[in-house]
Amino acid sequence: MIQKFRKGNPVETCAVSEKIFLSDGEIPFISALGEGGFEIKLADKDIVYGLGEQVRGINKRGWKYTSCNSDNCNHQEDTHSLYGTHNFFIISGSRLFGVFLDYAGSITFDVGYTRRDTMIITAEDYDMDIYIITGDSEKDIVKQFRKLIGKSYIPPLWAFGYGQSRWGYKNAEDIRSVAEEYRKREIPIDSIYLDIDYMERFKDFTVDENAFPDFSDFCSEMKSQGIHLVPIIDAGVKIEEGYDVYEEGVKNNFFCKDKDGNDFVGAVWPGRVHFPDFLKAETREWFGNKYSFLIEQGIDGFWNDMNEPAIFYTEDRLEAVIERVNELSRGNMGIYDYFEFTGLVAGISNNTGDYDKFFHNIDGKMISHKKVHNLYGYNMTRAAGEAFEKLSPDRRILMFSRSSCIGAHRYGGIWQGDNKSWWSHLLMNLQMMPSLNMAGFLYTGADLGGFGSNTTEDLMLRWLQLAAFTPLMRNHSALGTREQELYRFSNCDACKKMVEIRYALIPYIYSEYMKAALNDEMMFKPLAFDFREDSSAAEVQDQLLLGDEIMLAPVYTQNASGRYVYLPEEMTLVRMRSADDFETEVLPKGHHYVRAELNELIFFIRKGKAIPMAAPAKNTAEIDYSTLSLIGYEGAEYLLYSDDGISKDYGKAENYRVMKSKYSCSVGLCT
Ligand code: GLC
Repeated sequence: MIQKFRKGNPVETCAVSEKIFLSDGEIPFISALGEGGFEIKLADKDIVYGLGEQVRGINKRGWKYTSCNSDNCNHQEDTHSLYGTHNFFIISGSRLFGVFLDYAGSITFDVGYTRRDTMIITAEDYDMDIYIITGDSEKDIVKQFRKLIGKSYIPPLWAFGYGQSRWGYKNAEDIRSVAEEYRKREIPIDSIYLDIDYMERFKDFTVDENAFPDFSDFCSEMKSQGIHLVPIIDAGVKIEEGYDVYEEGVKNNFFCKDKDGNDFVGAVWPGRVHFPDFLKAETREWFGNKYSFLIEQGIDGFWNDMNEPAIFYTEDRLEAVIERVNELSRGNMGIYDYFEFTGLVAGISNNTGDYDKFFHNIDGKMISHKKVHNLYGYNMTRAAGEAFEKLSPDRRILMFSRSSCIGAHRYGGIWQGDNKSWWSHLLMNLQMMPSLNMAGFLYTGADLGGFGSNTTEDLMLRWLQLAAFTPLMRNHSALGTREQELYRFSNCDACKKMVEIRYALIPYIYSEYMKAALNDEMMFKPLAFDFREDSSAAEVQDQLLLGDEIMLAPVYTQNASGRYVYLPEEMTLVRMRSADDFETEVLPKGHHYVRAELNELIFFIRKGKAIPMAAPAKNTAEIDYSTLSLIGYEGAEYLLYSDDGISKDYGKAENYRVMKSKYSCSVGLCT
């Protein structure tokens, strides 16, 4: 059951797509605080699931999280806000209910941080809709919520292939050589990403003609090798006379305004930019149509970036800081002056104080950005998604974004932002999967190998062993970091085999993705969502269930050749060195130490289940669905979803087929 309550006069967020009538009376489970916030009492063993893209564990208890979309490439355990905000959580234990706060501004969830037995929710103001969802189980609550917010985005099948990306591929030659190195070693690949370097001086919807002469020929050349090019689009539009996007935006009032009604100026990659007012339907239509410039040249996938929006500086803040720094530097800079100086400089970028310097036009009213901050990235993705319906009515286009909030899941996926080549961020990648799925984001994954800082071969191998299962499998790294294309590593062969395993698993991964998207379900679940009565399963923070068939427990620590795993029931361990070199072992319910050498990917098949496997292929187009095998338990059946991977008439009855082992077999390969 879903109950909706309204406080004050909320801004329309378009997070929810189903109409629900307002309920009367008291809001259940939540008590109002005098100052306007809310509190929820937590019993000792209550678990708090959800909150989407946030740091820390699957159980969110014990920290304070703020929904305020933030560009933070240095995030760690003590970070409060990341790139996306997803105000949906479930409390499970002494009571079971879900809460969604439909709110566009900054809101803080103190989940037992100040007082262990209380969740305290405070916001900028209390103009919001509150949804309370009750149900029989966590999965039931998620399903009701997902129905409320509408169907999740579905990418083309090729977007489940391996993608290679790096900030710093300067020109067509660089990209050609990446493609060639992959081909030479026969490492499967479906896409290469174009970062800001492909643009002419970082201007959206331009291609640097010196770096990419004959861009459309280049797209065709790559397509003929089975490679899709995926260009980045940034939120800020460069201020430059003669640049059509800038000029049209100014002429038609498509940009956000400052307090005096002038186009607001911030600075990002191209220097001074204006920010499109994506909250306005006309701006979305205009900006969305601009993607046709690239679609017409053969592009069929994009990533939207810097759309929190990230602001490197605003001119007034920069001036004020420089002035103060000059003052400070004139004297004998004592330690507190020095702290002030470093703090001021560090605070120039992405300063939340800049959010009330610009305004959106919502139905003719000027609304401060601060009030609707978290809607910005969503509406950039929506601009693209709405346009793709017209520009490409029959064929899916890949779209994923950095910033998001609930609602954006209908138009695109997200990647988990600028992570680091850290073991802790590998674990965080795993921990975020179920909370993002709860919020409707199914097409997701993290920058594999880590974006910032220098990766290592063992981290890359271990990360591949998790990313082999995430819908988005993209190796991406920052300019200036150690190069991390798979062929850079001495044990490239082991990396290649991990990618081959991914391709063998694609029929299963795609099938599970589609079933989750079409049925409003989660693809990745905490163990306790299926093993509800098992108190040990409830404690597990580093394993996941994928679909109904498998459990993931990757190794995520350096110099470990195995890990402890909890099995909530008997399962079959699959230890794979390559797609056709693997062994299986039945393990009983309980705690186990499971060995997994660096070149071994492990996962578990649940009791009585089986999964389909394909022969490795060099790209998704070459996966042979006619020769799938099942691995798993004797006599097990699997409901396979498959379609052409590109058209939009999903979910037809003929797309489903039940696979069953033809021969009786024990655990192992049954065809
Ligand atoms: C941002 C993106 C990152 C990209 C970089 C340059 O930091 O998050 O993925 O490589 O900008 O465009």
